[in-house]
Amino acid sequence: MKSIYLDYNATTPIDPAVGDAMLPFIHKHFGNPSSGHEYGLATKKAIDQARQQVADMAGCLPEEIIFTSGGSEANNFAIKGTAHVLHHKGNHIITSAVEHPAVTEVCRYLENHGFEITYLTVDEFGLVDVRQVEEAITPQTILITIMHANNEVGTIEPIVEISELARRNNIQMHSDCAQSVGKIPVTVDKLGVDMLSIAGHKLYAPKGIGALYVRTGIELEKQMHGADHEMNRRAGTENVLEIVGLGKACEMVKQNLASYHDYMQKTRDRLEFALKEKLPSIKINGHPVMRLPNTASISFPGLEANKILAELSEVAASAGAACHSDQINVSSVLEAMLVPLDYAMGTVRFSTGRHTTIEEIDRAVQAILRVVEKM
Ligand SMILES: Cc1ncc(COP(=O)(O)O)c(C=O)c1O
Repeated sequence: MKSIYLDYNATTPIDPAVGDAMLPFIHKHFGNPSSGHEYGLATKKAIDQARQQVADMAGCLPEEIIFTSGGSEANNFAIKGTAHVLHHKGNHIITSAVEHPAVTEVCRYLENHGFEITYLTVDEFGLVDVRQVEEAITPQTILITIMHANNEVGTIEPIVEISELARRNNIQMHSDCAQSVGKIPVTVDKLGVDMLSIAGHKLYAPKGIGALYVRTGIELEKQMHGADHEMNRRAGTENVLEIVGLGKACEMVKQNLASYHDYMQKTRDRLEFALKEKLPSIKINGHPVMRLPNTASISFPGLEANKILAELSEVAASAGAACHSDQINVSSVLEAMLVPLDYAMGTVRFSTGRHTTIEEIDRAVQAILRVVEKM
């Protein structure tokens, strides 16, 4: 029997309806969207529709959506694109200590190229303090990039307040929304951001597709040079098949977000309640309220996450720390949250999804209890 998949924050399967929407673009519609004949017009129309679907979900104009190869490229584009185009204004960027490597490593790269980066600390729940953002702003600050929701513990950051600060100080604001889209409402005007990253494979679209929202008027230097695709902002013949998939996935999110949210929360809460009842010493990481509905980062004190997962063959989840022969690598997120070492070492992230069943949760709970009690 296949293990129970509780790793939807790592990736999601392609939703059957998304797959159906993509099928005609595998064999039938293969034209280059830049071609003026009927083959090209068919794929151009499909891209236009997908751009509209993504824009409808994000509450923006279609021409403000640039398709990318995923969340990492969208983050690279937003951060490097701002850094390069606004270098004459300043060289300071504010980010947080709990970002995904697709933000942190871009910032580290820029640090080696003359930029100064402030990595804001977080509290025990993984929350960025808005006052600290304000204190970090200098006349040199050109960009604030803070994630909407954390991939490991699910904490939702105060993006509305941070965007407000950015706007008042005339600083560009970007948010990595790879984990929040499809789980909680993500609309550009409510959040107040200038740029926002989307990763298709976290919302039941394929891997290798994503998008960057860029508010009209925002300056951004091109990263991929070539022909004038994507409103002349990102060159390369469009990934039509996957763009169609992302469009459909976004349409589904717009139509069904509330039910997706409630269902994921029901399954996640069932898992947490059942484990907490039987194992009162476990600790649930992340903010008690401001947290993604599907994410359960659970610390089993005194145990090692990799050993738990090795024993737990019935469940597919991920570890928050890895112990090697003579050293322990705790995730930078748990480290930033100052989770004590004996808790951090035993941290497993379970994340539920649209297709998780109650029966799977109950089986997973039994399997986890069996392993933890044995260990
Ligand atoms: C918060 C966050 N940002 C960015 C990414 C990277 O997205 P992609 O895998 O599409 O490059 C991920 C994926 O794990 C993520 O969780």
